[in-house]
Formats: sequence, C-alpha cells, structure tokens
Amino acid sequence: MPRKLFVTTALPYANAPFHIGHIMEYVQADIWVRFQRLQGHKVNFVCADDAHGAPIMLKAEAEGVTPEELVAKVAESHRRDYQRFGISFDNFYSTHSEENRELSAEIFLALQKAGFIETKTIEQFFDPVKKMFLPDRYIKGECPKCGTKDQYGDSCENCGAVYAPTDLKNPYSALTGAKPVLKKSDHFFFKLSDPRCVEFLRAWTQDGKLQPEVANKVREWLDSGLNDWDITRDAPYFGIEIPNAPEKYFYVWLDAPIGYLASLRNYLEKKGQDFAKYLADPKVEQIHFIGKDIIYFHTLFWPAMLKYSERKVPDNVYVHGFLQLSGEKMSKSRGVSVSPQRYIDIGLNPEWIRYYFAAKLNAHVEDMDFNPDDFLARINSDLVGKYVNIASRAAGFIGKRFGGVLSEEPLSAGRELKHKMRGNLAAPVPDDEQAPAILFEVRSFADAIAADYEAREFSKAIRQIMFLADRVNQYVDEQKPWEIAKEAGQDAALQWFCTLYLELFRILTIYLKPVLPKVAEEVEEFLGLKPLAWEDVGTPLKTGHKVQPYRHLVSRIDSKQIDELLEPPAEAKPEPPAKASVVAEAPEFKLEPIEPPRPPVILPVGDTISIDDFSKIDLRIARIVDAELVPDADKLLKLTLDIGIESNRTVFAGIRTVYTPKDLIGRLTVMVANLAPRKMRFGESQGMVLAAGDGNSIYLLAPDSGAMPGMRIK
Ligand code: 2FM
Ligand code: ZN
Repeated sequence: MPRKLFVTTALPYANAPFHIGHIMEYVQADIWVRFQRLQGHKVNFVCADDAHGAPIMLKAEAEGVTPEELVAKVAESHRRDYQRFGISFDNFYSTHSEENRELSAEIFLALQKAGFIETKTIEQFFDPVKKMFLPDRYIKGECPKCGTKDQYGDSCENCGAVYAPTDLKNPYSALTGAKPVLKKSDHFFFKLSDPRCVEFLRAWTQDGKLQPEVANKVREWLDSGLNDWDITRDAPYFGIEIPNAPEKYFYVWLDAPIGYLASLRNYLEKKGQDFAKYLADPKVEQIHFIGKDIIYFHTLFWPAMLKYSERKVPDNVYVHGFLQLSGEKMSKSRGVSVSPQRYIDIGLNPEWIRYYFAAKLNAHVEDMDFNPDDFLARINSDLVGKYVNIASRAAGFIGKRFGGVLSEEPLSAGRELKHKMRGNLAAPVPDDEQAPAILFEVRSFADAIAADYEAREFSKAIRQIMFLADRVNQYVDEQKPWEIAKEAGQDAALQWFCTLYLELFRILTIYLKPVLPKVAEEVEEFLGLKPLAWEDVGTPLKTGHKVQPYRHLVSRIDSKQIDELLEPPAEAKPEPPAKASVVAEAPEFKLEPIEPPRPPVILPVGDTISIDDFSKIDLRIARIVDAELVPDADKLLKLTLDIGIESNRTVFAGIRTVYTPKDLIGRLTVMVANLAPRKMRFGESQGMVLAAGDGNSIYLLAPDSGAMPGMRIK
C-alpha cells in the first residue's frame, strides 16, 4: 500500500534571500521526498514564506515599502531559488494568505472553546517615540547580573543570564534610543502548563519517534516546567488580527506553523481535493523537517495547538544541525560566505551541492561542515571519477561500434559467455537468472540503500553506492574491454560486456536518483527509458535495445570555480545606509565581504591643535526630539535637540537635501553644545550637529547604541 505523506520544511522568513543553510534543509527534505516518490508513495511536499512579525514590518518601513511589497519581492527570489536547486515542492505559499487567516482563527477559537486560552494583563516596555510595544529583541540595556552594557532584553551575551526585559538596568529602545516606559496590555496566553497538555506532550515526545537527542532535550524542558505562551502582539504589527480582539494580532510564531496547513490547503484546493478529508485520513503521515533552533516550537507548541484544536498532530519532526563553513579557503578570507544565488549565477551545477550535502547528511542533530576542498574532491573523485566514469567507459563502444544497440544476449547468459572469453566473469551465484556476480551484488544492495534513505542516513547510502561504483570500475579494469575491442571475433563479447556496464550504471542511477534528479533524467533520456522507479532495479535493459548518443553527464569542478564562489563579486556595492536601526529576528543574509568605498577626494589633514584646543569644544550626544522643514530655506531643517539639560536646543542644519524630518525624529546624533549662538533669518541656531560630506551625500553622525543624550564626547 502506498504511504500518504504530508511533508514540510521550515517556512523561511520573507525578509531576505535564502542563505546556504536554507538550501541544505530543503535538499535534505527533497532527497527524502524524492526517495518516497520513487518507492511509489504519495507525497504532498509544501512550503511557504513566513511573512509576519515585527522585523519584517520594520524592515519594510526602513526600505520605504509596504510589508506586502517586501514579502512579494522576497517570495519571488525564494521561488526562483528553490527551483534552481531542484527542490520539488508541490506548493510554495505564504502565511500572509486568506487560508492562513481562516485556519489561524479557527484554531484559536477552538483552543479558546476548549479552555486553553487565558487572558492576562501584562506590563511591557513601550517606545514613546515609535509608539509601539517593543519586542524583547528591540530593548537593550545593562545586564541585571553582571552589568554588561548593550544586552538584549532576554539574555546576556557576557554572563549568559536569562531575564525579563523589565529586569534590564537603564533600558533603551534599540529602534529609537528612547527610554521605554512600562505600559499595560491584555494578552492571550496558550496554557501550555495545563496538566492535560503536559501529559499529552510527555507522551507525544517520549514515545520513541523523535531522534533521541531531541527527545532528551524536550524532556529537560518538560521536567523544568512549561510556561504559558503569550500569543498576542499589539498593533502596530504585521500579522493576523485575533478574532474579536481589535488591535491585537497573533504572534508570528502562532500563525507560522499553521502556514504548513494553509499551504497544503491551497494546494489541494487548486487540485479540486478536499483538505479536511485529506487530513482526517488516519493513514496520512505528517512530517516536518526543521533546524535545531526551532525544536521548542515544533515539539511543544505546535503539537499542543493541533491536539487541543482537535486536529491531526504531526507524526514526526526531523531535526538537523547547522551548516558551518570551514577549510583553508574559508579562513583565509574571513567573513566569506557561500551564497546560493552566487553559486547558481556563476554557473555551478546544483547537482554537485546536492550530492555533497547527501554525502555528509545523517539522521543526527549534528552540525555539518561545508569545506570547499572536500566539496571539490567528492565531486571530482566520487561523482565524476567513479559513477559517471562507468557510463563513459561503456557508452563509447556501444555508440561507435554497435550503433547504440545493446547486446542481443541476455545478461543472465553470463556463465555461457564466460567460455568465449578470458577472465573470471562470474563465479556461480545463488541467483536463478544466473546473472554475473557483479550484477547480483549491485542489485542486492537495493534494500540496504533504501533503508538508509528512509532513515535519513544519506551519507551511509552514498558510501554504499560509491562502494558499488568502485566495484564496477574494478570489474571493468579486470575485464579490459579496450583489449577485447582489439581482438578479432570478440564483437559479441564486447557488446555484451558494455551492455552489462550500462545495466550496472542504470541501477546506480536509480540509487542516486533522489539526490541527482537532473542527472537521472539525462540518463533516462540516454538509455531511452521511462522515468525510473526503485522497483526497476530488477528490470534489466532489454536485449537489442537502442540507446541515444552519449553526452557527458556531469563535469568536474575546477578549483577556480570554487575561488569564484568564495571571492567577493567585483561589482559589489555597499548596502545603502540603513534609515532605521533594525535588529531582525531572522539572521540577516550575509553577502560576501565588501571593500569599503572611498570618497572621491580626500583632503589633507589640517593644522595640528593641542588637546587643550580640542577640549574647548563641548561635544554632546543629542536626541533629535523634533525636526521641521523651514519655510523658504530649501537646504535647512530646524532640529530640536535634547542634550540632557532642562531646555532643548534649536539648531538649523543644512541637511534637508538628504534627510526628511521623519527620518530624524528619535535619532541620536552628536552636537557642538558650546558654539556661540547665531542669529539667522528664521531664528537663533544654538549649536551645530555633526555630519560628514556635503551636497547630496551628507552623513549625520550617530553614536553606538547605549549612548544617552547629554553624554560628553571626549
Ligand atoms: O526560524 C525560522 O526561520 C522560522 N521562519 C521558521 C518557521 S517554521 C514554521 F513554523 F512556520
Ligand atoms: Zn551579564
């Protein structure tokens, strides 16, 4: 009976192009899914963009676009890129969709009805400048334990302490630098600590289905007690509004996994199938591939949400480690990253990296190392040197000597043919077809390799396949077809041997097909076969069958291509200066390192001054509390500055060509506080703000986070 599988990968945030870690996860899931399909199982493999949340909202704002525009632009790049790596998603949707809105509302209302939602009034930091509640990541301050400055609102990077943002000393908003105020708000909580829930999660996570290291981690969490989960965010927020609760939105992590269902529903409905009926089928297995950083969400929150809204719970969650970059090339050029976009753009073969990932992946939560030298070696010596080599060795003779026609003698005739040739073709084998031992051996690995794919032990599968490829090459070396080719009257033998090599190559192609879908397609075309399935291992090439002219299947990697992959692109441009300091929840996609740009003219350094001269200038940190246009002055902005003293300062600054008032309000900058006031046409200017450049390239100075209005600059 074919299995029915509903498979997902984690939904990528819609705020940046994919990084190489995304591609690794998708390749892992895709290999597994393709393997299942080759087995004849029915798979719905879906993904979607994770579109909501404060970081996306703030990033859109900083780029001057709507969040919808931002996520649409990113979705386009995500769609293009997963296809370029051969990922066979059936659907790639978005959490910002009607299906997700409906499903999220239904699940929330069901949880509420079942008594798993509680309302609590919480006190949270609010940015009075930005007029929004601040997520923990946007509050910084001094660690309450060790006093280290500029720590995030949830934990200290110096001493590791974990605390609430309200515990920070001298907190400030990472968005505006403003001192946050405490404000009350009613929030919905999901009662994860409900004893029914805890009991269910203990059973669900400890029944042996999860990877042992994952189950252990989850047990620690369960043993130390689960907290109720705050699922509300206050407006302004880019998300899904909570039913019957105006101005309240679901926290992005509530609607994100529901996006799995939304994408499935969108896909099934496009095909005219019934979503509810599909998920009600007890035979459907629901499997999520994820990274180790989001285990809590997928093994606690998500199953509990599904369980208590009376939906199907996941059958398993397959967790992988992170991808690390290592090796000499990486350390020589620090900060270099492997960009998947660049990988494709410079013409590297996506099947190479799929093969490399497969050769290194296993079923454990281990970090994987991407080492460019190892990458090159595995492709050139294994994939090309072993596997493709078999086809090249046989295809030449079949094409040139036999017009592409395979032997008329069945491969099982090996023992009879042996008399006609030299060499020990085959020892008797316990195969009723009496196939040569090598054929028997290569076929006999089908179940073991299948078991490795099923268990996500891809590196073991690849090791076995390469072991077989070695055996086949050894066998060819022993038989020396190039010598048979020179002997008179041995045409039939040569044709038969080369047919055998192609048959062995065909079987190895089936074994590699989950990893190398494009290569497999080309082999199918070359051999003139219908798409190969796993069960075709035992169905040999037909006698007298004609194959197509052979074209080389996979080329070698040149080490220059690797250098090109790792080198920064020549045309690299620096990122435009950010308008607002946005700390993203998702890791920012890191581009290759960039040479810092230089101004066109560098003026010589001026006359030396003494330290006393310098200390006469009273430089202060200032917060721009207001900024206005000045009528009839198209270069000036009127700034109101807070420098920590009682009265604010007014400064007229010639920065209007570059900054608008909206860009400036709330920002910190540097001012000369003891400059003699100057009467201007529009009023008195009581100091000066500091900026670099002039004309259309003016860069206002800004202090590192943590600086406060009034601090003296020395
Ligand atoms: O960690 C992340 O990148 C999240 N966007 C994953 C979401 S997975 C699912 F829950 F949607
Ligand atoms: Zn600390």
